Amino acid sequence: MALPDDFLQELRIRNDITNVISGYVNLKRRGRNMVGLCPFHGEKTASFTVYPETESFYCFGCGVGGDVVSFIRRIENLDYIDAVKLLAQRSGMEMPEDSYDDSLQKLRLRIYEANREAARFFFSRLNLPTGKSGLDYLHGRQLSDRTIRSFGLGFAPDSWSDLTDHLTEKGFKPDELLQANLSTKTKNGGLIDRFRNRVMFPIIDVRGNVIAFGGRIMTDEKPKYLNTSDTLVFKKSNNLFALNRAKNSKSDKLILCEGYMDVIALHQAGFDFAIATLGTALTSEQAVIIKRYTDTVVICYDADEAGQKATARAIEILRREGLDIRVLTVPNGKDPDEYIKHHGANGYIKFKQLLEATGNDLEYRLRKLKESHNVETPDGKIKFMTEAAKLLSQLDNQIERDVYAGRLCDEMEVDKTAFKNQISKYVRSRFKREKTDEFNRIRKQITSETERFGDRNNGKVRAVKAEEALIAYLMLNPDMVRSVRSKLPPEKMITEFNRKVYSVITQRILEGRTAAITDISGEFSVEENSRIASLLANNNVETNSPQSCREFVDIILEEGEKRSADEIAKESPEEIQAYFDKLREQQKKKK
Ligand code: UTP
Ligand code: MN
Repeated sequence: MALPDDFLQELRIRNDITNVISGYVNLKRRGRNMVGLCPFHGEKTASFTVYPETESFYCFGCGVGGDVVSFIRRIENLDYIDAVKLLAQRSGMEMPEDSYDDSLQKLRLRIYEANREAARFFFSRLNLPTGKSGLDYLHGRQLSDRTIRSFGLGFAPDSWSDLTDHLTEKGFKPDELLQANLSTKTKNGGLIDRFRNRVMFPIIDVRGNVIAFGGRIMTDEKPKYLNTSDTLVFKKSNNLFALNRAKNSKSDKLILCEGYMDVIALHQAGFDFAIATLGTALTSEQAVIIKRYTDTVVICYDADEAGQKATARAIEILRREGLDIRVLTVPNGKDPDEYIKHHGANGYIKFKQLLEATGNDLEYRLRKLKESHNVETPDGKIKFMTEAAKLLSQLDNQIERDVYAGRLCDEMEVDKTAFKNQISKYVRSRFKREKTDEFNRIRKQITSETERFGDRNNGKVRAVKAEEALIAYLMLNPDMVRSVRSKLPPEKMITEFNRKVYSVITQRILEGRTAAITDISGEFSVEENSRIASLLANNNVETNSPQSCREFVDIILEEGEKRSADEIAKESPEEIQAYFDKLREQQKKKK
């Protein structure tokens, strides 16, 4: 995947890392670097750092890091080439043509095309005799033709290979259909359709690509919904149904539901800001995505026990991303779709009333807490109030705490002063605990650093430290590469990962090319880019010199010898003898 050097260089200059990241993160200057709240995990104190000098970023909280392209890959959930394209577009650059090996990218494009063609196929079946049962089913669920069209709903016929045949005729190869998860292989190697005799819900990403499908069976058989498995273009834990539409809503909120049908019914009724997870519990990745589009989420899960449990879990996950949470509980054990349908033409008004009456997550949790205690007895009342005080102590805002405390005391007819004192006590111990946690986290980080780098007795660790420091140094001082590389060929690097990085950068520099992190990030996964950024962030190149650079090389070579000694010990006596001779030689040199 090699893009021309001059292209990458221009891309990197035109897309200054601080500038690009500022579009997503509120950065403040700290010394020569910039810091902010990490967009990849929830945190209250800033440990996300941008280093203009090395053109990298690194979060000390979650260990994510990389160059400007890696940042875009992660935050926009794109692969390398698409992230480069986005940056090129942002800065008005043309992509070079056919200059990179893009077989994987081409396969992705084919999957998008196959999915789009499949969506067209499913939709068009609705108006054919084979699809009548599907159309009847959707109508039976009160969906209008307009809704069906705008969501692109469809029908997968009751046949073994209608879609597979259709797509094959359109020029799609068997491998592409399997990779798209539209076809599956039979025992004797033939292809059949994955979705048969189901009404189809296309899943569309925020850029408008059809990335997957959900297919509902029209009877009580199981599984009720069959979904596309994860493919090159789809990860169910990373996507949300109907976000492509909801993101354009005028509303400043998002309603989070459990099911496809709930979302569609809500949109049809006029709530165009409803979204849903895709058949799994809410993930923190999804919460991070939600936070990009809104500050307020209304959780609107099923009223059954499973739905309420899922609500409690979703609250935890959404809170961690700093979202304001409201909880809407649909009365009479219904799901949102059934509720709206039940009220017919009044569906909009009725649901809007529910929406306006939603409490925030705290009110919801207080209510649940109260339900689980018998507050009619003195004992139950005390237990409830104690738990309630703990719950309220989690609020950061004093005024908010007082408002809820006051309200609760009125309702429960207990003394306000005593209750507020109890809350204050819990708040103080929470602050203390948070401080200790923070302290322990930092201490752990420091100890693990010293463990990794400082322990002179552990040869491997010592060598790894030297390898990392050397790589960081060379990335900023390419003129040292020639002399270092002649003493230290890549195969002498002890850890596999460092060997790869070292080999890539030294090779480039020997070829007279540049080797900044953005030049090489395309050759590494996002996880590997994090490791490279970590190595840059943890090695202060300022304090290193050509002299320390030579020392790093010596340490690596020395530890490498020792290591092979362990291996040699298992081998022939002559080899062992040779090894001892060599060691003696080295000892002499040192004196
Ligand atoms: P529900 O079972 O609550 O279905 O599943 P629903 O949304 O009310 O569907 P209808 O109204 O009966 O048609 C909620 C969501 O969980 C996923 C789907 O995304 C569904 O919308 N699910 C459910 C599956 O992926 N597979 C299943 O077998 C069932
Ligand atoms: Mn339902």
